[in-house]
Amino acid sequence: MTSETLTLSRSSAIQQLQSHFEQQKWSLRELFATDPQRTTSFSCEAAGIYLDFSKNHLRQETLQLLLEYAEEQELSRQIAALFKGANVNNTEHRPALHTALRFQGTPKTEHERAVADCRAQMQRFADNIHKEKWLGFSGKPIRHIVNIGIGGSDLGPRMVVEALGSWHKPGISVHFVANIDGADLSGTIQDLNPEETLFIVASKSFSTLETRENALSARRWILASGANEKQLSQHFVAVSSNIVAAQDFGIAPENIFPIWDWVGGRYSLWSAIGLPIILACGYEVYEELLAGAHGMDTHFSNVPLEENLPVLLALIQFWYRQCWGAGSQVILPYAQRLSKFPAWMQQLDMESLGKSVDKEGKPLEYPSGSVIWGTEGTNGQHSFHQLLHQGTDLIPADFIAIKQPTSELHEQHRWLLACCISQSQALLRGKSIHEARQELEDAGYTHREAHALAPHKAIPGNRPSNTLILEKLDPHHLGALLALYEHKVFTGGCLLGVNPFDQWGVELGKQLSGKIYKAAEEHAPEDWDSSTRSLMEKLL
Ligand code: F6P
Repeated sequence: MTSETLTLSRSSAIQQLQSHFEQQKWSLRELFATDPQRTTSFSCEAAGIYLDFSKNHLRQETLQLLLEYAEEQELSRQIAALFKGANVNNTEHRPALHTALRFQGTPKTEHERAVADCRAQMQRFADNIHKEKWLGFSGKPIRHIVNIGIGGSDLGPRMVVEALGSWHKPGISVHFVANIDGADLSGTIQDLNPEETLFIVASKSFSTLETRENALSARRWILASGANEKQLSQHFVAVSSNIVAAQDFGIAPENIFPIWDWVGGRYSLWSAIGLPIILACGYEVYEELLAGAHGMDTHFSNVPLEENLPVLLALIQFWYRQCWGAGSQVILPYAQRLSKFPAWMQQLDMESLGKSVDKEGKPLEYPSGSVIWGTEGTNGQHSFHQLLHQGTDLIPADFIAIKQPTSELHEQHRWLLACCISQSQALLRGKSIHEARQELEDAGYTHREAHALAPHKAIPGNRPSNTLILEKLDPHHLGALLALYEHKVFTGGCLLGVNPFDQWGVELGKQLSGKIYKAAEEHAPEDWDSSTRSLMEKLL
């Protein structure tokens, strides 16, 4: 199909979906009432992840229409192209081979051979650190690792290191610094001994403002503690595709871990960007993480669309975005150790799908990426769940539950899971005004009082959610979960016809910050807007 017909078909198919939406006046309660076995037909399991998608506004006919739409977008061909290393990132003429980063067994391609070499380099490095063979400038072993990076060079490893807290090796602490706000770096290093501290400068481009400034400040901190220029290499390693810039910074070539242009930043935690994971948890844990992701890769690239977990999640989000006017989606991981998961998901989804032209550069005639937000359960229940239950917006929710306890407090884990299940049930069922009134009268309110208060206590319900279950929050299951969402986002790009692997939108802000920073020393150009000029006067 030419891009022209693809766009036309995309629009006409969305119109077909829209009319399906308008014809169907169903409620979730009715869908469950008419089919007591509904969940059996609207759930599936793969690569260690169970997905219950029955609490959605879906009938078999809806799924059929969505799957037909996916086929029209040649989704199966696009998935094959992704794994084959085609230039799916068409505006930068690059493949997106994050799947090659988690290959298993013997390397078969040039990409996998490069990955294997990098894995070996990381394993040797981690071994030297863990066995105290790597010494700082005063002869002390390294006790503290500080990862300096931002966006995809921070969110992934930061989230995984927190999620796998049970696997942290003793004797080494891993920290993350991202913000150019000096409070981040200074707050992190204030209690660390520079003689025992090693910095990972993680930056694919090695030109990101925040990372450069933090790395230079860290460099000054090490030098100020008594190290000389030559000894810097005992306290700095780099993960970058910009070898020249990393060496110019003073990092020894053998301490630069490669990352390639066929790995997107927000898809890079499986590369050497994941070095903090290896240092915090050990190489074996990192291998398990890769294996879990590989299992989901195998599922995504082989299983028919109708049983394909990433495809189902993407089609469901597409359905609510295009036909139900849902502008956002809330991510609710019911696990304290997944508190950084929504932030990682935000970059993955919103930096991939937050586009306004299709792959050919034509303006989109329909909505694209959703706003992704959320926080760990049960904390969100005491923050924004009020809006989810009684607000005026439909906000589809993804609940993530971990079956096995993540602490010795097993009774509290049972409460955690009961809360997770009850929240999705409350969204589904709600509470009718009649039920609210009856409840109030049963509680002793007068008929008049009950009549007055009931509208405030009624809960619309009929609000959809997915629930995913991991048997355990361990490296393998976590790897599968992360890969599941990576492939969901890629599939979302295929359904929208956008390139999910570039991020041109972030360039303007970077350019303007440089101009504003420089103009602050002189005077802002007269043609700049009065707000920017007055803010500069006040702040800079
Ligand atoms: O946010 C823009 C971005 O380019 C992200 O895509 C990327 O993950 C981040 O900045 C950091 O980039 P780098 O790894 O090149 O420092």
